[in-house]
Amino acid sequence: MEQTLVIVKPDAVARGLVGAIVRCFESEGLVVCALKMVWLAQKEAEGFYQVHRHQPFFESLTRFMSSGPCVPMILEGEGAIGRVRTLMGATDPHKAAEGTVRRSFATSIERNVVHGSDSAASAAVEIPYFFNRLEIVPAAGRDNSPSI
Ligand code: CMP
Repeated sequence: MEQTLVIVKPDAVARGLVGAIVRCFESEGLVVCALKMVWLAQKEAEGFYQVHRHQPFFESLTRFMSSGPCVPMILEGEGAIGRVRTLMGATDPHKAAEGTVRRSFATSIERNVVHGSDSAASAAVEIPYFFNRLEIVPAAGRDNSPSI
C-alpha cells in the first residue's frame, strides 16, 4: 500500500471544488486517510515548495498558495502516487488529458487546482509537512476500533 499527499489548492477551494476533486480520487478506489483545511503563510508555502526555490515562478506560486485556504489530504492505495498523478493530468491544464482533474477544472499552469506528490521520496517529505502520526488513519486495519 502506498500513501501520497494531495493538496486541493486555494483556487479550487474558493470555487467550491473540494468535494468534486475528492470524488475524482475516491471513485477510482483511492482512500482518504487524512484531510484538513489550512491557510498557509507565504513562508510555509515556501517551505513546502523548497525544491522550486530557484524557479522564476517561485514567488508567484507561493503567493498564490498562501492566498486562501487549501485542503491537504493523504490518499492511500496500491500505486497511489502514480495513480493520483495520472488522474490529476499534466501540470499545464492545456496539456492535460481529457477527463483529468486539471483538464476539467484548472485555469492555468499555476492555478492548476491540485498538487500530488511526484515520487515516494517526495511523499515521505510532504506527508509529515502537513500531518502528524495521530492525524493519519491508514486504510489498512480500520476494522480495529481504537482502545480507550
Ligand atoms: P504542483 O504540482 O503543485 O508543483 C509545483 C507547482 O508550480 C505546479 O503544480 C504549478 O502550480 C506551479 N508551476 C509549475 N510550472 C510553472 C510555470 N511554468 N509557471 C507557473 N507556475 C508553475
